[in-house]
Amino acid sequence: MSKLNGKTALVTGASRGIGRASALALAQAGAYVLVHYNSGAAAADEVVEAIRAAGGRADKVQADMSAADGPAILAARAREIVGERLDVVVANAGIAKELSIQDTTVADFDELFAVNVRAPYFLVQQLLPVLVAGSSVVLLSSLAAHASVGQLSAYAATKGAIDTLVLHFAAALGERGIRVNAVAPGVVATDMSAFARTDEGRDFTLGLQALKRVANAQDIADAVAFLASDDARWITGDTLRVDGGSKL
Ligand SMILES: NC(=O)c1ccc[n+]([C@@H]2O[C@H](COP(=O)([O-])OP(=O)(O)OC[C@H]3O[C@@H](n4cnc5c(N)ncnc54)[C@H](OP(=O)(O)O)[C@@H]3O)[C@@H](O)[C@H]2O)c1
Repeated sequence: MSKLNGKTALVTGASRGIGRASALALAQAGAYVLVHYNSGAAAADEVVEAIRAAGGRADKVQADMSAADGPAILAARAREIVGERLDVVVANAGIAKELSIQDTTVADFDELFAVNVRAPYFLVQQLLPVLVAGSSVVLLSSLAAHASVGQLSAYAATKGAIDTLVLHFAAALGERGIRVNAVAPGVVATDMSAFARTDEGRDFTLGLQALKRVANAQDIADAVAFLASDDARWITGDTLRVDGGSKL
């Protein structure tokens, strides 16, 4: 695969999980990848080393996306490294909180929206000067945005907001030739959905899905790499379900 040869990509939350797998997939397709992390410096180093060991190019970049100025700081750092052109942005960093409606605090709600919605919004805003015709933005939605699964109401609302942003970003940026889409995973066995690694969690997950296996991060990353590539050149404003047929 060399569909992203000569392209530059930024993946947020690439130290672990779906972001890590996406960074590896984009690098394997030929992109130079900025591996963003927050607290996981050692994990981000490992991702950069894995990309370089496979003959690819990558560097790590840190920013706390829960901070109001985090997206602007990240965009400035990314622009310092890539210069005037960024071809792919995967705004993947996110947090989840499994909480009943009764137990959700204002602080929980604000943190979820800060990391999952405010950060991608202002990251894209701050990167607009370096996005060019042919650039692709991929956001992370979720099955939870369109189906009730677990006690995730506030988290789910952040992903509903992502689906809405995809429409508005795609409409606004289309005239510049910039595509904006999201992927909506179901349950993926990462740290965020660690329950899927237990027997009970596995049974719950398989009960949701048409395809009877628990998804791994690579299952999502391959769809991210597709949306990032020119193979998806006529797809914009869409949220692609990548969930093994969950809650059909
Ligand atoms: N796993 C699932 O079942 C599932 C399903 C649907 C959608 N998703 C979505 O997919 C995306 C990735 O999820 P995942 O399962 O891969 O999660 P994960 O394994 O928990 O990894 C989360 C990533 O986000 C970064 N992050 C968290 N808080 C941050 C902050 N304040 N500032 C900057 N970075 C931060 C982490 O960085 P550090 O570790 O370096 O701090 C880490 O790289 C999320 O948007 C999630 O909502 C996941």
